[in-house]
Amino acid sequence: MSDTLTVSAPADFHVHLRQGTFAELVTKHVRQGGFGLAYVMPNLVPPIKNTEQALLYKAQLQAIDPSVDYMMTLYLSPELTPAEIRKAKAAGVAGIKSYPRGVTTNSDGGIESYETYYPVFEVMQEVDMVLNLHGEIPSSASSNTCVLNAEAKFLPHLRALHKAFPRLRIVLEHATTRAAVDCVKELGDTVACTITAHHLALTVDDWAGQSWAFCKPVAKYPDDREALHEVIRQGHPRFFLGSDSAPHPPHKKSNATPSSPCAAGVYTSPILLPLVAHLLEMFGALDKLEAFVSTNGRTFYHKPARDSDKVVLRRTKKVVDEIWTQGDDSVVPFWAGKELEWEIAE
Ligand code: NCD
Ligand code: DOR
Ligand code: ZN
Ligand code: ZN
Repeated sequence: MSDTLTVSAPADFHVHLRQGTFAELVTKHVRQGGFGLAYVMPNLVPPIKNTEQALLYKAQLQAIDPSVDYMMTLYLSPELTPAEIRKAKAAGVAGIKSYPRGVTTNSDGGIESYETYYPVFEVMQEVDMVLNLHGEIPSSASSNTCVLNAEAKFLPHLRALHKAFPRLRIVLEHATTRAAVDCVKELGDTVACTITAHHLALTVDDWAGQSWAFCKPVAKYPDDREALHEVIRQGHPRFFLGSDSAPHPPHKKSNATPSSPCAAGVYTSPILLPLVAHLLEMFGALDKLEAFVSTNGRTFYHKPARDSDKVVLRRTKKVVDEIWTQGDDSVVPFWAGKELEWEIAE
């Protein structure tokens, strides 16, 4: 068994980099985790809803770490007109992220119905801008919807969108179920899917009563996790890494009270490439590491790798730090206190 692994240009196609001093702490972790490309989510407070805000945010991130390629997204909202899509495309904005209303962190301004946005999707299809979907429908007692079936119940919406806009490139973000994997496989070449590192490790048992492993969408059944492993082992070209690394300050994760429940989000950025290598090796997919963390996503997004962006991993036994701190900010990573079998060679 080889003791080093070379990976060409790892790219994280879904990450939350936050704002203010918290962004200064977590943005540096992209490179530390082995990644030179960050596909940046727009769910700030307030959300990134137009081209100007996206360019300003990009400049802030570049000021923190200029070595990373930041691909920017806008938050789908009624302010987003067809004209704004053309402007965003011309300014290099890569995608539009849709959050169903209320299902996750800062999604109160999310969408209720997709039909309203068909004129926007029409122009996105024309100018070739990507639609990134948070694929869950809101919980509701009357429709028997809760976090366990919210993704499966979203899939008809994905099918309808693809049917209405067959040339629109759509990414179903952070898939957690066998149903989602099967659905994406079945749809055409314009539909892809990101998978997080933590959903390769977790099932319901891990987050029930364990706030650090709580995220949206929640991890599902063992057989769902198995479907994520299988599609990576197959090296399916339309499935790739989007970490959904979502940092929250420790007091928002661990000191939940009935009136202030635990924030959703698992934080993997600073250990991301070693963690993904570790997990893929555990389920027999280490030979698909480069496809999963680089080639597949870069092909879908038309972002070719540069030879200079190679990262070397070396075999190790290393315990993950319990907490990362900078000034008044701190963040606790997934896998804290546990061992990883790989590290980035300096
Ligand atoms: C907070 C921030 O900006 O620091 N939130 C955010 O950007 N969505 C941090 C947090 O509470 O997650
Ligand atoms: O767990 C999550 N956290 N899921 C999301 O979709 C958003 C994210 C966040 O921003 O914290
Ligand atoms: Zn999401
Ligand atoms: Zn996310």
